Amino acid sequence: MAKMWAGRTDGVTDKLADDFNSSIKFDSKMYKQDITGSIAHASMLGAKNIITEKEADALIAGLQDILNDIESGALEIDYTCEDIHMFVEQVLTARIGDLGKKLHTARSRNDQVALDTRMYLRDRTVSIIGKIKDLLYAITLKAEEHKTSIMPGYTHLQRAQPITFGHHLMAYAMMFLRDVDRFNDLIKRINVCPIGSCALAGTTYDTDRRYEAQKLGFDEIALNSIDGVSDRDFCVEFASACSMLMMHLSRLSEEIILWSSWEFKFVELSDAYTTGSSIMPQKKNSDMAELVRGKTGRVYGDLIGLLTMLKGLPLAYNKDMQEDKEAVFDAADTVDMCLDVYAPMVATMKVLPENMLVAAQKGFINATDLADYLVKKGLPFRSAYKISGQIVGDCIKSGKVLETLTLEEYKSYSDLFDSDLFKEISLETCVLKRISEGGTSPDSVAKQIEYVKGKIQDV
Ligand code: ARG
Repeated sequence: MAKMWAGRTDGVTDKLADDFNSSIKFDSKMYKQDITGSIAHASMLGAKNIITEKEADALIAGLQDILNDIESGALEIDYTCEDIHMFVEQVLTARIGDLGKKLHTARSRNDQVALDTRMYLRDRTVSIIGKIKDLLYAITLKAEEHKTSIMPGYTHLQRAQPITFGHHLMAYAMMFLRDVDRFNDLIKRINVCPIGSCALAGTTYDTDRRYEAQKLGFDEIALNSIDGVSDRDFCVEFASACSMLMMHLSRLSEEIILWSSWEFKFVELSDAYTTGSSIMPQKKNSDMAELVRGKTGRVYGDLIGLLTMLKGLPLAYNKDMQEDKEAVFDAADTVDMCLDVYAPMVATMKVLPENMLVAAQKGFINATDLADYLVKKGLPFRSAYKISGQIVGDCIKSGKVLETLTLEEYKSYSDLFDSDLFKEISLETCVLKRISEGGTSPDSVAKQIEYVKGKIQDV
């Protein structure tokens, strides 16, 4: 069958070329945005007397019927069509006759596809924000439960200083809060209406772009029609925000995987979010966390694909840009799936504070506090650091730890050591003393939790 754009050519293309060119397999998911956009367009054409009000009403009714029929399943998408825009127009014309052909007055598929993609991503962004908030609720709840659960804090994956599990979790909460911020900020730039840019140069018809934009809930219109049809920055930004979110999820996943191992045993994931091995009966694998870590790579791929696709494109629309949709759809679907399993996985994760404490007790994790003790007694930090280092070195040789060394032994390194030392370097004191803003003390963590809770209510 000849294409709707038959004219200069006979519109008959090779079957393989047709399949290659077609985007309906993936852009059909924008049917709702496409039809809603067309309804606003028909309404504007009527309001501006470009078509009669009666014609506009008939177009709108026809479009509304198509939307209802797709939603009820009465109308099936025809996947032999080139794209969703052509499909809707074709059905409309088949149903209401030649009037359907007036819908495409004063617009082009170039501004239409930009409009649909923006409306679609706007919806997906709002839904992603909601899902990140669900995860933030789960994290802050766990952090609240474990404000005082002592664990080793690591740098270079070496035991560094004692922290609380609540504090560690709240570090992730801060990252996810920034993700919420990023997606919210992105809405500003998605929510710019390109319709009326037409093919690239605008139109000779007396249209009202702002009328259409306002009907569709946009804050602003694209101020340059060439940019209106060429701009895919919002797709790149969307994939970038998704990538950053996935990077955070992936880091947390890596930790959950480590913590679930027999070597750490800091947490145990609920059976509902783990799998067994077909051969090793003892296995309980953190498959969900591993998959999230793995899927991070594909979302980065979506971002890099978009950036690379766009980098050499002359203005204005080029067919290369059809590739934008699979990238952003894949990023959105992947992020959605990951967030859907993540919040309940964290909520049902059993924390094993006894094991965390044992791990914190063995690694001279309070050596900084030993040095700080001497500093408080008047020694310069560098000298205190040196003495503490010597003590640690000697302990390692003799198989002792800081808690089991006697006061006499301590005194052989410095007269400044006294009986208050043992309380001062106990892990509980080490954590309680870190009262600086953002620090690991339970009071400070409580403030962080309050802050995040307040933020998720606001945004
Ligand atoms: N399916 C196309 C896309 O996704 C729609 C725009 C087509 N415009 C054109 N001039 N061929 O980009």
